[in-house]
Amino acid sequence: MSTIISQSISRFNPLSCALKSREKLTRDGSTRETYHIALDIDHKLLNLEAGDSIGILPQNHPERVDEILIILGKTGDEVIVDQRRNKNLQLREFLTSNANLSQATSHLLKLLTNHPLLEAPKAELNAFLKENEPADLLKAYPPTNASLDEICNSFAPLLPRFYSLASSPLLYPTEIHLTVTLSTYEHQGRLRYGIASYYLNHLVEKDVKSIEIFAQKPRNFTIPIDGNLPIIMIGPGTGIAPFRAFIQERVTRGDQGENWLFFGERNRQTDFYYEKELTNWQEQGLLKLSTAFSRDNASLRYVQDALYAEKAPLWKLIEKNALIYICGDAQKMAKDVQAMLVLIAQEEGKLSQTEAELLIKTLRREKRLCLDVY
Ligand SMILES: Cc1cc2nc3c(=O)[nH]c(=O)nc-3n(C[C@H](O)[C@H](O)[C@H](O)COP(=O)(O)OP(=O)(O)OC[C@H]3O[C@@H](n4cnc5c(N)ncnc54)[C@H](O)[C@@H]3O)c2cc1C
Ligand SMILES: NC(=O)c1ccc[n+]([C@@H]2O[C@H](COP(=O)([O-])OP(=O)(O)OC[C@H]3O[C@@H](n4cnc5c(N)ncnc54)[C@H](OP(=O)(O)O)[C@@H]3O)[C@@H](O)[C@H]2O)c1
Repeated sequence: MSTIISQSISRFNPLSCALKSREKLTRDGSTRETYHIALDIDHKLLNLEAGDSIGILPQNHPERVDEILIILGKTGDEVIVDQRRNKNLQLREFLTSNANLSQATSHLLKLLTNHPLLEAPKAELNAFLKENEPADLLKAYPPTNASLDEICNSFAPLLPRFYSLASSPLLYPTEIHLTVTLSTYEHQGRLRYGIASYYLNHLVEKDVKSIEIFAQKPRNFTIPIDGNLPIIMIGPGTGIAPFRAFIQERVTRGDQGENWLFFGERNRQTDFYYEKELTNWQEQGLLKLSTAFSRDNASLRYVQDALYAEKAPLWKLIEKNALIYICGDAQKMAKDVQAMLVLIAQEEGKLSQTEAELLIKTLRREKRLCLDVY
């Protein structure tokens, strides 16, 4: 039954759930704002496993919705046709849930004005669109000829955002835990927040069944069925989320294989997510924990430096068929960590660089090195 339900749940047919609790993981003085979020939902409805992510349909901040309504001189009760969904919607609902109010589009610019940048090289146009949000464009070029429907359908769609499951379905069958870092950036000298991370960390109210979610299953990012196999988990920042689920699951199952986690953040004092839980496991001999707090010392120290410091025992574990997992930043971290694995294979396995690179490629192909990076 649950599989049938989960199959029909999708981005276009999400499940509604409520926020059960929200707890700040970063302490005062941190350069980040990260929350532990617990959602009230039966895992079976989504058929989730440790290693999966969920998709969330976020909502824009009501102030940003009001800003657009004021510019357009509307109340929000007007009805528009959402062409993407082929559906009639109240304007306020459309602006809240279906339009990305922080990303301007060339479509909107074109509708409002015959701007010279529309003929310019794409990079110049994109830079202009990045600097100007939809509200900026609507203020600068008040829509005189465009209809409300045309304006609405020129906004970028508000797409789902994904978050790794940070809890084991076995240990928490009726809750989904997430680890969410508030995304921040500057817009025209003002601090702005990412839509979904602000929505989860600040807007959603407790016990109101208003959060729309669906399951997102990355391929091959699961714990081994054989509980005796050792696992090495490398997860700086929010990359720790699936590994909290992995460890909970393995501990609950009573698996005997070694669990080794490499966690990194900026400062130990303020950014050591799940410190108590992790150190408890460590004290009970259930987890080997290596940390790298990048900004605690004069020189940067990252998870790959912690890997290098442990290269001999790490290599031994890899030789014992350990599975290696990397989660978090795709742009730099995942590449640098894999380059470090190549170096460790060269130094500890006495391989040439070509052989070491081939080994890492083989591990990836054989799903002994698994990535969930974003
Ligand atoms: C498989 C997967 C798993 C993930 N797991 C996690 C997780 O466990 N925890 C977690 O915190 N995140 C996770 N993420 C990232 C998450 O999905 C979101 O991308 C993240 O929270 C940011 O979304 P947002 O809506 O808050 O920010 P957005 O609104 O999408 O903005 C994101 C960034 O875009 C830029 N930006 C947006 N608008 C503007 C503008 N007008 N001007 C200039 N710059 C702008 C900024 O750099 C901003 O920080 C995961 C992603 C994937 C794909
Ligand atoms: N697409 C999006 O909208 C979006 C939104 C949010 C986050 N993200 C991305 O998701 C990823 C995870 O973000 P996060 O906030 O969880 O943490 P993060 O930015 O990855 O930072 C976690 C730790 O990793 C360190 N780090 C920085 N560069 C590194 C490298 N090359 N190798 C190893 N460690 C490195 C950081 O150090 P320092 O900071 O001290 O350098 C910090 O100590 C990031 O790439 C972030 O950009 C994307």
